Amino acid sequence: MGKIGWNRVIVEKPFGKDLESSNKLSNHLSSLFSEDQIYRIDHYLGKEMVQNLMVLRFANRIFAPLWNRDNIASVVLTFKEPFGTEGRGGYFDEFGIIRDVMQNHMMQMLCLVAMEKPASTDSDDVRDEKVKVLKSIPEIQMENVVLGQYTGDPNGHGEAKKGYLDDPTVPRGSVTPTYAAAVLYIQNERWDGVPFVMRCGKALNERKAEVRLQFRDVPGDIFQSQCKRNELVIRVQPNEAIYTKMMTKKPGMSFSPEESELDLTYGHRYKDVKLPDAYERLILDVFCGSQMHFVRRLEFIFCH
Ligand code: BG6
Repeated sequence: MGKIGWNRVIVEKPFGKDLESSNKLSNHLSSLFSEDQIYRIDHYLGKEMVQNLMVLRFANRIFAPLWNRDNIASVVLTFKEPFGTEGRGGYFDEFGIIRDVMQNHMMQMLCLVAMEKPASTDSDDVRDEKVKVLKSIPEIQMENVVLGQYTGDPNGHGEAKKGYLDDPTVPRGSVTPTYAAAVLYIQNERWDGVPFVMRCGKALNERKAEVRLQFRDVPGDIFQSQCKRNELVIRVQPNEAIYTKMMTKKPGMSFSPEESELDLTYGHRYKDVKLPDAYERLILDVFCGSQMHFVRRLEFIFCH
């Protein structure tokens, strides 16, 4: 008899609460499905600029030689939301910002920034490289972590007046973090000593997700310390963009350096292009059988 179809199962977080519960769920799933039938969704992997990281890094000659500890001083990954839990506190309180956003969305972005060039764009080649990054990250030290919980702003309007503990779905006296910042290091030849700073939180001043690479100072300065460090920013949302902060001669008679930008803002450059929603892309990938933008079991194990 010929092939009559296929089974593919999509699983979205929470995948358990810790390594033990995640393993239990994974073992159960693998007793029912093979790894190539399981699509663990992390919707950040369906975002335009997150997918763009691989092209930016591996399809441009100009970035590759700079992408290492000799040239990059730090990498900062930011996730901010301007609203709080707004009635979703029941779910959120069980998990907190680290499990909700940091260990999944932010770690996935970090892997794409830090990984070595895969042998090809095949799903397993890409995911092998991500796993290697995770394996090279030593345990995060508590002195490199800041946790917080938002409180209400008495002068704010509407929801801004309410703190996390004012959400009726949040248990009284909860100490679940709604903000977390952590510095981690990747102990490999490319990144040894470069801080990767992850910051994420709810009820902050704006909506923003971005990756920011800050380069080291130019050696042998001849401009009397007037130069700022170069930065390459990949803005995931809102308003997708890639821009480089760079020094240029102040236009006109002056000969002093001035900070400016090389700016690829998608809204200007690609005016008529509709960027699909992350889930639209990912669900299409499931139909097409492509696992490149999905999370493999091993990635999970090393994220816990
Ligand atoms: C989800 C989190 O995975 O991502 C939410 O559970 C968060 O708490 C959301 O608000 C953010 O997604 P996006 O696409 O709006 O940045």
